[in-house]
Amino acid sequence: MTALKGANVFVTGGSRGIGKALVEELYVRGAAKVYATARDPRTVTHPDAVPVALEVTDPASVAAAAAQAEDVTVLINNAGAVVGASFLDSPIDDVRREFETNFYGPLLLTRAFVPVIERNGGGHILAMHSVLSWLALGGSYSASKAALWSQTNSLRLELEPRGISVTGLHMGYVDTDLAAGVDAPKSDPRDIAVLALDGVETGAHEVLGDDLTRQVKAGLAGELAGLYPQLAK
Ligand SMILES: NC(=O)c1ccc[n+]([C@@H]2O[C@H](COP(=O)([O-])OP(=O)(O)OC[C@H]3O[C@@H](n4cnc5c(N)ncnc54)[C@H](OP(=O)(O)O)[C@@H]3O)[C@@H](O)[C@H]2O)c1
Repeated sequence: MTALKGANVFVTGGSRGIGKALVEELYVRGAAKVYATARDPRTVTHPDAVPVALEVTDPASVAAAAAQAEDVTVLINNAGAVVGASFLDSPIDDVRREFETNFYGPLLLTRAFVPVIERNGGGHILAMHSVLSWLALGGSYSASKAALWSQTNSLRLELEPRGISVTGLHMGYVDTDLAAGVDAPKSDPRDIAVLALDGVETGAHEVLGDDLTRQVKAGLAGELAGLYPQLAK
């Protein structure tokens, strides 16, 4: 369990979407300091947040960001992007780019911040997965989020004994720029931020953000045609 009151928290992609909602909710819960990253830090508008420039795919940028935030005990690996490349038809570089952002980016951040969090006495890491970690409808996006889910599960085993708890968040569509082109029910980013931070504070290993995500997770135990009706004979 990790108290957020008085905590120093680092949120990647904190200028818009779910990240912005997380920054706002962290201050509601009494966080002492919230670092909010963006590729252009001028886009961080929260009056109390500390803007930090960060490109998650660039190791030098990650190192520079971590060096500015040596008092952190909670890392929120929120930044992510959708390319949604087709495995058969898209340039292979599009598939790689999605993994650079959604898999290697959070890994670089975690490697940079684990020593920081340990020096500060332990803490927490929150990772943004997706319902598409469990449902392969998004091409390379789904694959990158499935790989991130597995990364989180491995990191949890390594980090719990070192005093760092790990929470993974899975959810369907959320009303942000990322899902702007989607015509389907979407969660409010503020509701997702509340659920995610409840998960951090209660020490949940996993947080499921909506009914769709609960249904899909339950479906993993059944036949594949349950999740993919087009496979039904
Ligand atoms: N929205 C959904 O439906 C949904 C559903 C499930 C999971 N998620 C996940 O939730 C997380 C937040 O998504 P969102 O909906 O809030 O998306 P969003 O509104 O599009 O915002 C994405 C954030 O990620 C940052 N980002 C993207 N690529 C980056 C890079 N290469 N380096 C540094 N920062 C980068 C952006 O920073 P800049 O401001 O610098 O561009 C922005 O702050 C993502 O991991 C996403 O995959 C979203």
